[in-house]
Amino acid sequence: MGVTVCVGGQWGDEGKGKVVDLLSESAQMVIRSQGGNNAGHTVVTGGRTFKFNLVPSGILHPSTVCVIGNGVVLDPKVLLAEVEQLQSAGADLSNLVISERAHMIMPYHPVLDRLEEAARGDDRLGTTFRGVGPAYSDKVRRIGFRVGDLQKLRFLEKKLGFVLPLKNDVLVKLYGAPPFTVEGILAEYTEYGRRLERFIRDPFPLIQGAIARGERVILEGAQGTMLDLDLGTYPYVTSSYPSSGGALAGAGIGPSQVTSTVGVFKAYTTRVGYGPFPTELEGELAEYLRERGAEYGTTTGRARRVGWFDVPVARYAVAVNGIDALAITKLDVLDDLETVRICTGYRSKGRLEDHPMANISHLKHLEPVYEEHPGWRSSTRQARRWEELPAAARSYLERLAELSGARIELVSVGPERDETVWCGGAG
Ligand code: IMP
Repeated sequence: MGVTVCVGGQWGDEGKGKVVDLLSESAQMVIRSQGGNNAGHTVVTGGRTFKFNLVPSGILHPSTVCVIGNGVVLDPKVLLAEVEQLQSAGADLSNLVISERAHMIMPYHPVLDRLEEAARGDDRLGTTFRGVGPAYSDKVRRIGFRVGDLQKLRFLEKKLGFVLPLKNDVLVKLYGAPPFTVEGILAEYTEYGRRLERFIRDPFPLIQGAIARGERVILEGAQGTMLDLDLGTYPYVTSSYPSSGGALAGAGIGPSQVTSTVGVFKAYTTRVGYGPFPTELEGELAEYLRERGAEYGTTTGRARRVGWFDVPVARYAVAVNGIDALAITKLDVLDDLETVRICTGYRSKGRLEDHPMANISHLKHLEPVYEEHPGWRSSTRQARRWEELPAAARSYLERLAELSGARIELVSVGPERDETVWCGGAG
């Protein structure tokens, strides 16, 4: 019981969706704490596939209350499409709650995202073009629009009258793009407000009530630690705080209320977008892992970059998030390899580094130090208990856990819910 924070330990896409889905089986509440529809994941259950961008995947458990927390930036148009898709796939959305404090992605945010990326030229970040960065920038500038504003139309109109000229100035004068009108946005967002009304409220009493009653609450993180605005590979990061500190602020929960922090890691590493990736692979092996692991973005369809498991990243993530349990996903993708490698450190500027350095150029130009382990060359898909995993796979996992500094709680060996090995703290 208590609050479990679930964070990504790498560059996102670690398989948090499946882990949260498993953890939320026994949870009374799941809270999505940050990010926007730049995130996406798929949950496969009973042969049915559900795609999520904003709604916590706990919604598939009918009695679980699912909250879109104050730290999220929400595109109402995308959320409504997701709500409709989930409803037509048979999901019950009566337990969905949207925090009135969550910020909204406005129509000019995705436009600015694209224009800013183009203006960066060779230094572009590879954003998802969903408007996430511009929306968080406006939140920080205190010119953002919150979900609660949909219920205060006069206020919304007045504020648009002040904010929109600022946006149009940049759109028209800097980029030569067409302007937006107050009337157009007001009409569009009034309609969104009407359709979302039943979900919007202040979740503070609900969340704190659940914690006070000792219920099981899961915080669902999006993206991963290395994409954290402060702790990641800046500027090649997202604009929110995917680490556990961000998750707490984004849900309105204090650190002493947390019982456990689960860090989700792939058995190897991937990243989308640009920026340093110390263990990145190229060539045939990269192609093999990408195909075998279906490493294409759920949100944008982009091919993901792939590499070996990176212990400096994992150890860093364990420390900065306070991770006490590891969930290792996609072990089965490595099943047929003759050997597997673990990066244990970086050689950079004549020094051996054991954690990701802040200096991007040092991170880009380092030499990873590898340990090589024998592969297991057999399928792990049928394993359900730790002892059922091949011995070589167990030693690989034990080594990951030992070097990363946390115990393994579960290992995922396939996309289905039941393709999971519960380890009870191996390593
Ligand atoms: P943005 O979040 O769209 O601004 O993109 C900034 C960086 O974060 C880019 O490298 C994206 O590819 C990456 N990113 C954003 N969301 C995700 C995600 O859910 N998974 C993996 N990478 C992401």
